[in-house]
Amino acid sequence: MAPHCPATQLDRVKGTWAITAETPLGPSGCYRASLSNGEFLLSTLQLIPRFLKDVFFSPPKHPRAPRCSQAGAARPVAALSSTSFVRGKATLPDLPYDYNALEPYISAKIMELHHSKHHQTYVNGFNTALQTVAEAEAAGDLTKAASQAPLINFHGGGHLNHSLFWENLAPSSRDGGGEPAGSLKSAIGEDFGSFDALRKEVNTALAGIQGSGWAWLVKDKTTGTLSVVTRANQDPVTGNLIPLLGIDAWEHAYYLQYENRKVEYFDAIWNVINWKTVAKRFEN
Ligand SMILES: [Fe+2]
Repeated sequence: MAPHCPATQLDRVKGTWAITAETPLGPSGCYRASLSNGEFLLSTLQLIPRFLKDVFFSPPKHPRAPRCSQAGAARPVAALSSTSFVRGKATLPDLPYDYNALEPYISAKIMELHHSKHHQTYVNGFNTALQTVAEAEAAGDLTKAASQAPLINFHGGGHLNHSLFWENLAPSSRDGGGEPAGSLKSAIGEDFGSFDALRKEVNTALAGIQGSGWAWLVKDKTTGTLSVVTRANQDPVTGNLIPLLGIDAWEHAYYLQYENRKVEYFDAIWNVINWKTVAKRFEN
């Protein structure tokens, strides 16, 4: 018997974001997809199977009482809190550090291209797809509007993922590197055994990505449990999972410096992880 799932909801974050469509897709729970930009998408995106197919709900490995006091409470999507919009359009966020600030672990050239070219392309593609949806819906062409869903998923996901990624990083001379502290450290110890075990699991997940994608440390909204998941291409982390730490495994993130030695990049990036940001997302 399919579970009861809350109705579609609209969360407002910095203007007209974000829509959450939730539906029962099996006996194990509700599936939720969130990625859109305003009420005009509500009637179309929630019905697109492709959009929902990319979202999955994983039960915790070791079910336990929820850590969070507001289990299951509806909240704005965490990923969206990092994105920036001007009058309904996505914009490229500024980096909180210089392009050369993550050297020697990530070169200035990679950072410049990654941020100013690759991320900008996702922003542009996202805005174009949203504009197409708006125009199609105004014309009553819902088929055309729905056809934009893969582009919204890809470019919107790319914008969200990179916005979170930049905040996940910091120069090693400032907040980058080291190990998490406080309640995040305790949770990592509880769910992975140790920080080293977490790092090993993330790096194994990164190495296992075929083609392009991301590895994420995520928190289950219901139980508070931490886990590591991967996403192909630019598929965002949505549903019952809150993205805490994302590592970009696309070649554009490392190839200019590390060439085919991506394992070296996966090892190096831990020197510039901003654990304060991860802890802030964990505690929200
Ligand atoms: Fe990237």
